[in-house]
Amino acid sequence: MSTTSDDSTIGALIAAQRAHWESTLAANPTMYGAEPSEPGRYATNRFCAEGLSEVLELGAGQGRDTLAMLEAGLEVTALDYAVAPLADIADAALSRGMKERLMTVVHDVREPLPFPDAGFDACYSHMLFTMALSSEELAALANEVRRVLRPGGLCVYTVRHTADAHFGVGRSLGDNLYENGGFVVHFFDHGLVDRLADGFDLDGVAAFEEGALPRRLWRVTMRRR
Ligand SMILES: C[S@@+](CC[C@H](N)C(=O)[O-])C[C@H]1O[C@@H](n2cnc3c(N)ncnc32)[C@H](O)[C@@H]1O
Repeated sequence: MSTTSDDSTIGALIAAQRAHWESTLAANPTMYGAEPSEPGRYATNRFCAEGLSEVLELGAGQGRDTLAMLEAGLEVTALDYAVAPLADIADAALSRGMKERLMTVVHDVREPLPFPDAGFDACYSHMLFTMALSSEELAALANEVRRVLRPGGLCVYTVRHTADAHFGVGRSLGDNLYENGGFVVHFFDHGLVDRLADGFDLDGVAAFEEGALPRRLWRVTMRRR
């Protein structure tokens, strides 16, 4: 069951998301568990197998996949707009002797990425693209990812999609965005996956599930041309 919102309500909801994430992550120190996710393991194996060592992670959260990538010997730049979890990841990396291969960056991906062109071998992002970002903002973000990757670099991102049980539930914000329980989620369709692959070769779209609902997600892999 869904309701619709006007533009001012949508703007206020989007603006409140950062504080909502900060407080939610602070209240749930292992919100998604401490073990690496399925796409995190896939991306780590794939990057290592291809010799891709400099990784940009977007929306690192509490770092379940960041730490696994560091453990595998990768160099990770972990970006998120929530400050405290990034500091916790840095502390965990320090205590495990991996801090020299980690950089943390506080940044909102609705702004251009604060990195030079072609500085990374790979980009990984579990459930950041499925946040409160319009299709226009996502297209701009994908373009930024393309810019900061080296030619041949891989991008692995995951998103909830239109077969997820929560698609169509809660408050409709338009553009396949729904607010439910304070969280805004962008549910992807295949058209949006294709749109974000502009300038990349699409390597694969794999369906998987995570969590208790379960969330229904796609793991998208694409290679920068
Ligand atoms: C669903 S959580 C996933 C966290 C982590 N990737 C994981 O799977 O455990 C989404 C993360 O994206 C971050 N985030 C959401 N919108 C963002 C934005 N516009 N810019 C930067 N980070 C954002 C949130 O703070 C949160 O840490």
